[in-house]
Amino acid sequence: MPNDSQTYFSNVAGQWDEIREGYFTEHMRDSAITKAKLPANAAVADIGTGTGFVAGGLAPHVAKVYGFDANPDMLEVAKQNLLAFSNVELRVAPGDQIPMPDNSLDGVFANMYLHHAPQPEKAIQEMVRLLKPGGVLCITDLDTHDHEWQREQMADLWLGFERDDIRKWFENAGLREVDVDCAEGTCNACGPDGKTDPLSIFVAIGRKG
Ligand SMILES: C[S@@+](CC[C@H](N)C(=O)[O-])C[C@H]1O[C@@H](n2cnc3c(N)ncnc32)[C@H](O)[C@@H]1O
Repeated sequence: MPNDSQTYFSNVAGQWDEIREGYFTEHMRDSAITKAKLPANAAVADIGTGTGFVAGGLAPHVAKVYGFDANPDMLEVAKQNLLAFSNVELRVAPGDQIPMPDNSLDGVFANMYLHHAPQPEKAIQEMVRLLKPGGVLCITDLDTHDHEWQREQMADLWLGFERDDIRKWFENAGLREVDVDCAEGTCNACGPDGKTDPLSIFVAIGRKG
């Protein structure tokens, strides 16, 4: 994880929930979780869990949630946020080296992590590695945009993604039934000029063959 990303998320860890609430909604998260159609006995992971937004959405619906993030300060906040759930385990880990065996999970989720991954296709391959056959990968992230300021101010490495690339990376990683669609909601990014310019979000789902 590059240092500027570590610094940014350490600096904003205490305010991330407030920042995030301005950016995207629980409705967006919950509709993506619904799309993944997980069984109640599922074991899942949330990569780049941050303060536990997606992990907290998953915990009431599945048996076990693992939340991984490279930033320990974000995970400290997640720990407090998720105190009510005994089925959540949080661990510091870089997204390209998740400390879990191959074929061990029914679902892997990542919300707004991929645009921080130095090598997004490799990050997807790592997530797919964790899935059991039939397990589902669900990524929500930004479509391509031109908000250069997000590199400087939010340590973003990628200004969103082309949906065709996401589809190709999913298929190359061995996923089938790949669906890349509009998420239910936008990312309401507020720029340095104080203006809010909604960015579109995709939800990408695929099942391990
Ligand atoms: C935009 S935040 C999203 C957090 C959370 N998923 C949410 O929806 O609120 C991105 C998160 O990815 C984490 N992150 C960035 N680069 C990472 C990497 N290479 N490996 C693991 N986590 C990373 C950051 O620490 C941060 O918590």
